Amino acid sequence: MVDTHNSYAVPVFGLPCFCLITGASRGIGRGIALQLAEKVGDNSLFVLTARSEAGLQGTKSLVAARRGSGTEVRTVTGDMGNIAALSTTLHDLFSDIPPSGTFSHAMLFHNAGSLGDITKKVCDFDDPNELQEYFGFNITSVITLTSKFKFRPQTYGRQRILDVRM
Ligand SMILES: NC(=O)c1ccc[n+]([C@@H]2O[C@H](COP(=O)([O-])OP(=O)(O)OC[C@H]3O[C@@H](n4cnc5c(N)ncnc54)[C@H](OP(=O)(O)O)[C@@H]3O)[C@@H](O)[C@H]2O)c1
Repeated sequence: MVDTHNSYAVPVFGLPCFCLITGASRGIGRGIALQLAEKVGDNSLFVLTARSEAGLQGTKSLVAARRGSGTEVRTVTGDMGNIAALSTTLHDLFSDIPPSGTFSHAMLFHNAGSLGDITKKVCDFDDPNELQEYFGFNITSVITLTSKFKFRPQTYGRQRILDVRM
């Protein structure tokens, strides 16, 4: 029996989905996009974000090659560690989303992240700007993106948020 109160028990595959993936220009983020491209249904929308436009375009081409014309792929370049520009980046990620009812599911993959310079000891962290950027990228951007995703009325259907950085 399917537990309908548990959104993770509801099927996603083959249905129109809104898929937002951070760090999608290469690596695991690109891999997530390509795996999802094989699973979601037509009329899905992928929103891919990272700093490298060239990398995002590469992922976009690969996703498009798997899905054909039935799925839209958008790219948004932005530095999640740049707190001053974060509001603009978040706005761009959710601009012109189709009307409510278009998607059965919405999925957010927090993939972009950084361990920072792991060779450093605590006594080496004497630059507040470096620390601020680290926490901005790994924490502030994740919380604010989750907030935008979770609570904006345009995000609809069942929602899944996966943090794949840990
Ligand atoms: N727990 C584990 O065992 C484990 C193992 C491997 C990976 N991970 C985590 O999984 C995630 C992906 O790993 P990966 O190996 O695929 O890493 P990767 O190849 O370095 O890719 C990182 C992605 O994040 C993007 N990114 C980096 N800094 C960014 C920033 N300031 N703003 C926006 N996007 C940024 C990169 O794109 P741009 O450079 O174009 O911005 C890239 O698309 C990371 O968070 C990593 O820490 C965990």
